[in-house]
Amino acid sequence: MSEIKNKIQSLNSIEKTMLIPLWARAEESMSGGLINDQLSVDIINEIDTSLYGFNQMSRFIKNYLLTAIANRTILIDEYLDKVADKDTVVYNFGCGLDTRFIRFRDKVKQWNDIDMPEVIDIRQSFAEETESYKMHSISILAENPMIGIEIDGNCVVICEGLLMYFSESEVKGFLKKLIDTTQSGNMILETLGSWTKVKVNPVIKGIGENSRYTWSLNNTQDCRKLDTRMEMIDSKTIFDLNKSRWGVMGMLMRSPYLNKRVSSKITLYRY
Ligand SMILES: C[S@@+](CC[C@H](N)C(=O)[O-])C[C@H]1O[C@@H](n2cnc3c(N)ncnc32)[C@H](O)[C@@H]1O
Repeated sequence: MSEIKNKIQSLNSIEKTMLIPLWARAEESMSGGLINDQLSVDIINEIDTSLYGFNQMSRFIKNYLLTAIANRTILIDEYLDKVADKDTVVYNFGCGLDTRFIRFRDKVKQWNDIDMPEVIDIRQSFAEETESYKMHSISILAENPMIGIEIDGNCVVICEGLLMYFSESEVKGFLKKLIDTTQSGNMILETLGSWTKVKVNPVIKGIGENSRYTWSLNNTQDCRKLDTRMEMIDSKTIFDLNKSRWGVMGMLMRSPYLNKRVSSKITLYRY
């Protein structure tokens, strides 16, 4: 346990943000809420999160975070259910300690979880590779972000809680290399509205980190600005479901002007 604690402590600021969705999924599951993710609960029980101030969060911020993470989990699962089959190879970039592979690894041909080497090292304490489940230490900024990964079948790329930490040119560069290499497939991307870049997210600040959001996309149909080979199939925001949990925020987000600038969107693209 203390070895994992030390490894987590030595992660950089963006890498440490993986604790936020993990903690939120575990917390929501433990209260019998919108999702039921026992693996996140098991992992969080192995990690000393007392250092990260999760329990000092205001009720408003905690409800916002838990609802946002549960809804993005549900939305990505729904899109994946729509496009994945027994021929599908999934590439989950910036996987952190994401647990989705447990729900989908038997439904697809292969699941690849990809992140920085220090993160994969921690992840290996909680997940084991099999024929259909692989972990890879690769940065999305690498010359070839698919190096050493099998490219086969109906490809589905997931980027959840990842692209907002990079610049637009880095995002474009990554997508270009990905599309050049895989040729065709589906992508499920999480993107944030431009107002989220103004300040360090209070939850990130709360865990003592200062990584900022540096890239945003207000209109998810603007994907051709990213790569002309991309086509938007469907897009939803975290405010579109479990509306009773959103309170005042839900009412404010009925304004399309505010919604597109503030919300996290989950979008299914084809290329
Ligand atoms: C907010 S976490 C999201 C984790 C996971 N997708 C989830 O939703 O639970 C951001 C993740 O991006 C990863 N990351 C940061 N820089 C990266 C890079 N250059 N290449 C790949 N992943 C990176 C971090 O290590 C971290 O796991």
